[in-house]
Amino acid sequence: MSPSWYIALVYFTICSSSRSVSTKELQCPSADDIAPCRCSVEEYNYIDCSDVADVHELARVFEADFPSNPFPQLIISNNHNIKHLPNGIFGDMSFEEIDIVSCGLQTVAKEVFINSATTLKKLILKNNKLDNKFDFDVLSEFSVLDYLDMHNNNITEFPVLDIPSLTYLDMWMNPITSLPDDVFGKMPNLTYVDLDMMDLEQLPINLFPIQSQLTKVLLSYNELTYLKEGTFAFQGDSIQEIWLMQNKITTVEAGAFSGLENVMIELWKNELDTLEEAVWRDLLDHNITIKVELNPLVCGCDVGWIVLNSEYHDQIGESTCNNGEYLVDLDPAWFTENC
Ligand SMILES: *[C@@H]1O[C@H](CO)[C@@H](O)[C@H](O)[C@H]1NC(C)=O
Ligand SMILES: *[C@@H]1O[C@H](CO)[C@@H](O)[C@H](O)[C@H]1NC(C)=O
Ligand SMILES: *[C@@H]1O[C@H](CO)[C@@H](O)[C@H](O)[C@H]1NC(C)=O
Repeated sequence: MSPSWYIALVYFTICSSSRSVSTKELQCPSADDIAPCRCSVEEYNYIDCSDVADVHELARVFEADFPSNPFPQLIISNNHNIKHLPNGIFGDMSFEEIDIVSCGLQTVAKEVFINSATTLKKLILKNNKLDNKFDFDVLSEFSVLDYLDMHNNNITEFPVLDIPSLTYLDMWMNPITSLPDDVFGKMPNLTYVDLDMMDLEQLPINLFPIQSQLTKVLLSYNELTYLKEGTFAFQGDSIQEIWLMQNKITTVEAGAFSGLENVMIELWKNELDTLEEAVWRDLLDHNITIKVELNPLVCGCDVGWIVLNSEYHDQIGESTCNNGEYLVDLDPAWFTENC
């Protein structure tokens, strides 16, 4: 064989073998086999079973021959005939993302998604009626689960999740009044936690003990009244926003927030009547922005330390006193004379 032929042959072999790797391209099953589910591998890759009549039809669909397993996404939305998902319903199919949303789903058998234990990155079960019977423990077997959205369900006991890979957790709008101690102690990679609009009355100490990549925490529209020392003791300097608006917070203890730098703390519409120097000065010195509009701040001598230090004024922005006056517009001369 001449050298040039040899090179051409080697080249051809390499190229065709790398092509055969990428020819493991995604394929849909036959449309007839899975009707009324629809499959797409065009712009988006999904199997959408929103039109199934009931779980029996769903089970029948997943008896079909699926050439690609795992498949990127399963969608079932706005289907009120799917209230219970029994084990085995998805045959031996596995997915990277599962969205079962707005279905009035009530129960999910423990092993329903287990075939996806090593593939599932995103699990979205929002706007259903799932309650404490949902088995959160089984999720610890999902080794690449990154994103969990269970918002607007009927869960009353917050689960202690053991999902080390999780970065995004959305539990807003579940009727939960308290969080267990060390609730996030097994999820070091959390970056976003949404606990808005639950019925939280109090928070445990040291809510985020090991999170060094957390950027945003949402705790607005709850029933919080009191923030104890050590509640938010952050690791690293990843945190950017802490949302606590529309609670009933009357008291923030010194040291309730620590380890913060360049963070925005949103306290709009709470019940604070004072901004004590012992609580807030150290935070303002670390470039924290606090938003305290619509709190009943008395704005007496207790806020003199802010009024008289104009370098803090940008950080309290449009915060108002209970008479509607902007804190930053208060007359420094009055504070020098009277306090
Ligand atoms: C939520 O769960 C409670 C029991 O914990 C039950 O009484 C209530 O009907 C449920 N609400 C909905 C909307 O399913
Ligand atoms: C956590 O994040 C780090 C860095 O992004 C990554 O290397 C690690 O694998 C993640 N841990 C888990 C359990 O996924
Ligand atoms: C202060 O924090 C804000 C974000 O809240 C950031 O944009 C700004 O650069 C920070 N300033 C300094 C001096 O670090």
